[in-house]
Amino acid sequence: MKKHWWHKATIYQIYPKSFMDSNGDGIGDLKGITSKLDYLQKLGITAIWLSPVYQSPMDDNGYDISDYQAIADIFGDMADMEELLAQAKQRGIRIIMDLVVNHTSDEHAWFVEARENPDSPERDYYIWRDQPNDLDSIFGGSAWQYDDKSSQYYLHFFSKKQPDLNWENAALRQKVYDMMNWWIDKGIAGFRMDVIDMIGKIPDQKIANNGPKLHDYIKEMHQATLAGKDLLTVGETWGATPEIAKKYSSPAEEELSMVFQFEHIGLQHKPNAPKWDYEKELNVPALKAIFNKWQTELELGQGWNSLFWNNHDLPRVLSIWGDTAAYREKSAKALAIALHLMRGTPYIYQGEEIGMTNYPFKDLGEIDDIESLNFAKEALENGKTSEEVLDSIRMIGRDNARTPMQWDSSKNAGFSTADKTWLPVNPNHNTINVQAALYNPESIFYTYQKLIKLRKENEWLIDADFELLETADKVFAYLRKTADAVYLVVVNVSDDKQVFDMPIAVSEEIISNTDVSTVLTNKMLEPWDAFCVKLC
Ligand code: GLC
Ligand code: CA
Repeated sequence: MKKHWWHKATIYQIYPKSFMDSNGDGIGDLKGITSKLDYLQKLGITAIWLSPVYQSPMDDNGYDISDYQAIADIFGDMADMEELLAQAKQRGIRIIMDLVVNHTSDEHAWFVEARENPDSPERDYYIWRDQPNDLDSIFGGSAWQYDDKSSQYYLHFFSKKQPDLNWENAALRQKVYDMMNWWIDKGIAGFRMDVIDMIGKIPDQKIANNGPKLHDYIKEMHQATLAGKDLLTVGETWGATPEIAKKYSSPAEEELSMVFQFEHIGLQHKPNAPKWDYEKELNVPALKAIFNKWQTELELGQGWNSLFWNNHDLPRVLSIWGDTAAYREKSAKALAIALHLMRGTPYIYQGEEIGMTNYPFKDLGEIDDIESLNFAKEALENGKTSEEVLDSIRMIGRDNARTPMQWDSSKNAGFSTADKTWLPVNPNHNTINVQAALYNPESIFYTYQKLIKLRKENEWLIDADFELLETADKVFAYLRKTADAVYLVVVNVSDDKQVFDMPIAVSEEIISNTDVSTVLTNKMLEPWDAFCVKLC
């Protein structure tokens, strides 16, 4: 298998509104990101996945783009973007852009023209029907919005300010490829592709994801933009199975480097229930089975995994699956060790490396996210109490990941000098912050730093086979095996002691959050004990 830089990479996701504010308006921006590159270099990451910074009315925080080749005023301008690229490059950090081409903003020039002038070529860049069917928007309500001017409905799988693009239109596809090439020429290192599995939709047949032409489009896109360039591409594909993931990520298919699959994230809510109906306790055996499936089915050379606990749409993993009290640091390290030593490219979401947690929202007035607000409205109308609604949002809502990055214990956690930040800063920034983490050699930060370094330096993390071990239910243990070495990873995914009585001979300790010899002597794992050793 041909190895690429991204096989050894760890990617760090930045949510620009919340990372660092350079001009005191309470909103993160590009200059803010550039000012923190030294910190990211110290962490050791290979690349930044930058959530959207393009021009946008910010109905969905930039996932509604009105100009793909301009920067939103709140974030700065194109010169700031070029400066970020240049400064990052100097530090060996690459930039991956967020490609949101399932839909645009309704304020994009194409849609404005399409709406104003039904005879324009742009009309067919979007999806119009005389009558709506019963397709629902993912953000609540119907997926169809009536347009007075032409007496037709347009499709929007997300908010009504996010009209869906019509990928059947070849001219539109070419415009997208031209735009991608424009960014590639600027020196970016790849794309994270927003809800890419939806571009092959057939609304009349109620097909949203995995439409019949999806892979034709991606292959065409690959030839028009990616071919011959060493870029990282990762598709967001909520419903992907290993079979589907192979279609995207097998090198022979010439599509993408990898996809984000969300099967493990599905354990955050009840089976076949909306995400708001969350599951209080992690089903560890189910989690192990899912990882085992993905690790073994995406064989080396036939597909590639991405590895993540968090992103800007998910709750903070410590709050839902870890421990935010006595074992916050230890559980954060344990979850990191469990994830980063599997095969795939790991992603870290801003603040994960210091163990940031969900936000204690007190009332609906503190909520910003359109998805949460739409959910609250519908749920209240359907008779839920506001306490029930808040309980779901506190656990699952997307704003939890989006509160400002906690840099230090000063005002606004050092994120901004503004009186009011766009989302409130978590009160726990007094103790959970970058400054404190850097100061403490035992902090979560240094576990992440070590995991990133291990990945850069060790081929076995790519090549070694994965083998799940039979252990106590709440112990996640696996082997990574190459022709001449065997590595053992053991993680107690719980607040309780767990038996671990495997007779093993250790040749070398690779990483741990505990004293491995005590574990082996006592044949017992303390809560959230985690380690990796090379076996004799
Ligand atoms: C993706 C993004 C999410 C956004 C949605 C619509 O799921 O990650 O933040 O709201 O697509 O663009
Ligand atoms: Ca700002």
